[in-house]
Amino acid sequence: MESTRKELIELLNKNKGHISGQELSNQLGISRTAVWKHMNELKKDGYEIEAVQRKGYKILSYPDKISENTLRWGLDTKWMGNELYHYDQVESTQEIVHQLAKQGKPHGTVVIADEQVKGKGRMARNWDSPKGKGIWMSILLRPNLPPLQAPQLTLLAATVLAKLIAENSDLNPQIKWPNDLLINHKKVSGILTEMQAEQDTIQYIVLGMGMNVNQGEDEIPEKIRYKASSLKVEGGHDWNIQATIQHILRLFERTYDVFESQGFETIKKEWEHFGYKIGEEITISTMKETWKATLIGIEPDGALRARRRNGREEKLYSAEIHW
Ligand code: BTN
Repeated sequence: MESTRKELIELLNKNKGHISGQELSNQLGISRTAVWKHMNELKKDGYEIEAVQRKGYKILSYPDKISENTLRWGLDTKWMGNELYHYDQVESTQEIVHQLAKQGKPHGTVVIADEQVKGKGRMARNWDSPKGKGIWMSILLRPNLPPLQAPQLTLLAATVLAKLIAENSDLNPQIKWPNDLLINHKKVSGILTEMQAEQDTIQYIVLGMGMNVNQGEDEIPEKIRYKASSLKVEGGHDWNIQATIQHILRLFERTYDVFESQGFETIKKEWEHFGYKIGEEITISTMKETWKATLIGIEPDGALRARRRNGREEKLYSAEIHW
């Protein structure tokens, strides 16, 4: 039943115009009455379906609830999301993509959940991922790059999210190196890159993106409210999560294709355009020490360049920035 319904939606999706009940019944191997019953079920679930005599059926709009079908609907990417999985609730989308990677799933496989109960942040922190309030998504990448260049993909992902917000609102997103997305100095999104590599080659990367979208202020955990926010709190209105996910997937594919054909330079420029506190003095903490420095920008390999007060310049691959 479930799989027939899935096939039915796929057939309706593929067809730009109307498709007749007879054609559907032939292709699905079920009676026309069964097709008609399925259509009624779809309507009950919120699909808007047009039935025109002698022409057949056509989906006019999808229900608000996110599903694999609704996410695929109108997604005009070449490779991103060709394999796409949606779950109501998971522990962490990262873990699912690791499993899919081990099963050999392709570059661009995407896992999205409405809710994560064990969302992972960087540095073994938790990532709060309440139901239906944000974008909790992990992407499988199989880049042809040496492991040293993997950080460039994290910067690329941060650039994609910054561009998405800038293109769709009056908000002014900024990227705090390497990958925190800030609006009005508060974090709305984070990226977690996990890599499986052998000496000189990346086997795969699981790139996790978490974006706080429709939380109201009181839905942001109290202890982080001073430094975390959501698009809704900063912009004053709800965002359509499904359309936003599709937009991210499109933009990611476009940006990744530019990266593959032209290298990191274009992405570096875009990143620096959104770079937070570039040219300003901040505090840097590494495992060894904490010091004041002026942020200069990023290096061609994605490392951070900063100048100490004594004028000496440093290249950093891992550090925390405060101000
Ligand atoms: C950070 O600490 O800033 C990174 C947060 C990354 C959160 C995302 S949500 C989707 C994916 N699944 C996870 O468990 N974590 C990442």
